This record gives sequence, C-alpha cells and structure tokens, in this order.
Amino acid sequence: MVLYLIGLGLGDAKDITVRGLEIVKRAHKVYLESYTSILQDTRKEMEELYGREVIEADRLFIEQKCEAMLDEALTHEIAVLVVGDVFCATTHCDLNIRAIQKNVQVVSIHNAGIMTAVGCCGLSLYNFGLTVSIPFFTEKWRPYSFYERMKTNMAAGMHTLCLLDIKVKEQSMENLIKGRLIFEPPRFMTVNQAIQQLLSLEEEKKMDVFHPSTFCIGLARVGCPTQRIVAGKASDLLRVDFGGPLHSLIVPCLKTVTEEENIMIQHFAVKESDLVLEKEEDKKEDD
Ligand SMILES: C[S@@+](CC[C@H](N)C(=O)[O-])C[C@H]1O[C@@H](n2cnc3c(N)ncnc32)[C@H](O)[C@@H]1O
Repeated sequence: MVLYLIGLGLGDAKDITVRGLEIVKRAHKVYLESYTSILQDTRKEMEELYGREVIEADRLFIEQKCEAMLDEALTHEIAVLVVGDVFCATTHCDLNIRAIQKNVQVVSIHNAGIMTAVGCCGLSLYNFGLTVSIPFFTEKWRPYSFYERMKTNMAAGMHTLCLLDIKVKEQSMENLIKGRLIFEPPRFMTVNQAIQQLLSLEEEKKMDVFHPSTFCIGLARVGCPTQRIVAGKASDLLRVDFGGPLHSLIVPCLKTVTEEENIMIQHFAVKESDLVLEKEEDKKEDD
C-alpha cells in the first residue's frame, strides 16, 4: 500500500492541508514524528481535531521500531505526520529512502516549512547560501563546520540560515550506560545561545566570520500567532528575549542586500524596549 509523509505546516494542527486531512481520516494508522520539530498544539489536541488516534513516533521509535512501521505500510495505508514540510530534516529523507528500499510506495503531501517560511523576514530566498545547523556544544565537543560554511556563504555574497539544535528524549551518559529509559528535559537552542556559540568560535578560530557587531536576524515561532522577528547587531540580539521555541537565526550578507530586502530588515529593527536581558558584561560583573 502506501506510506504517506504529510507536512503539517508550522503553526498548529489546523495548518494541515485538506488532502492531508482526508488521508489522516482514512489511514490505517497515523504517526506523529516528534523528534525533529514541535507543533504549538499537543498530540491530544491534534487527536481531537482529526478525530482519531495519533501515535507518537519519537527518537526511539524512529531508531528502533521504524522497520515494523514500514512493513505495515506494505499492506496498509500508513500516515506519518511531520511538523513543517516533509523533506526539511535528514530523518525524513532517511525514512523515504528506507521505504523505497523496501518497495513501499511513498506519497508526500507538502506544506510550509521553515526553509521557505523564513522569507517572512524580508530577505529573498534566492539570495541564501548553504543552510547550516548549529548543535549544542558540550565541554569536549565543539564542531565548527557551520562557522566555516557561514564564511563561504558570505564570501559568495549569500545569506546564511542557521537551524538550531533540538534535544528531546536525550539520556544522560549514566542512564545510557545503565540502560535506564530516563530522559533529560527537552532543550531547544535559543537565538541567544546560537549567538554566544558563534562568538565563542570567533574568539577561538579567528576567521573573521561573526563578531558582536555582526548584523543578524532572530526568528521565533515562525508561522504561529506569537511569531517574533528582531534584526540587529549580535550584541543587541543577545539581550532580546525571543520567548518559547522554536528559534532560527539568519546572518545576512549585508554587502549584497537589495533595497527591497533592506526595507523589510529595517521594519524588524531592534528597539530599545526589546533589550530586556542583562548585558553580557554586567552578567560577568554580577558573577
Ligand atoms: C530539522 S528542522 C525541521 C524542519 C521542519 N520539518 C520544517 O520543514 O520546517 C528544525 C529546526 O528548524 C527551525 N524551525 C523549525 N520550525 C521553526 C519555526 N516555526 N520558527 C523558527 N524556527 C523553526 C529550528 O531551528 C528547528 O530546530
């Protein structure tokens, strides 16, 4: 039969397309991939709206029980709901490949995803270079390929979209070793944390990519009623409270910004009243 990959869009459960909803109503089983993004609605609210059970497919499910779901799709219509669009995360591209390798027919129902919705900040999607992902640093793990890619984009006159890390259902090293299914609280990287990591890389690598004066745009909850977009230099955005997840960061290439793009950026320019968080220097003095 068919594995349907159904994009839910970025807002809430109501953003599903009519075609997507028709499939959800008739499918044998409906799974919600809850590992690479979050929706503003809970699974329960979704079940009430769609009038049927929605099974959570979390990280463990995708890693361990996915094969069983694909086997089911050989004989039944199975729907997998994906927040945003369906091919914007490697997890879903892998799922697609695994299904095709098993001879499962895959049908995608597209929706709005973050990689195009960021156009709402006014920068033209045609002027973006490589998209990068910024992972949470640990004491011993500080990858920096995203910082190098940002440099490549800038040199080519292109803007950089930074997608920010999500950690859900993570186990501590101790729980992992002891095989205990105890999970750490979810963590979603904020615009502020992403800026801090970029500044710390600049101090370390000194490749002249990202400074406190670098102009950037923070975006939170794009496509939701509480969407927030603020543009300004990195040191100012550090003092903006962007609120709840999810967040993304854009580092535009100012050298090539067009007049139209500039009008929109100015529209989102940071205001004195946005600077609600303490300055970094003041924080250090308090410590
Ligand atoms: C792997 S991508 C998931 C993409 C999703 N399937 C889509 O098509 O939008 C997850 C990252 O995209 C960004 N993101 C997703 N939705 C967002 C939103 N509504 N507002 C801001 N950033 C968002 C965040 O940085 C988040 O960590």
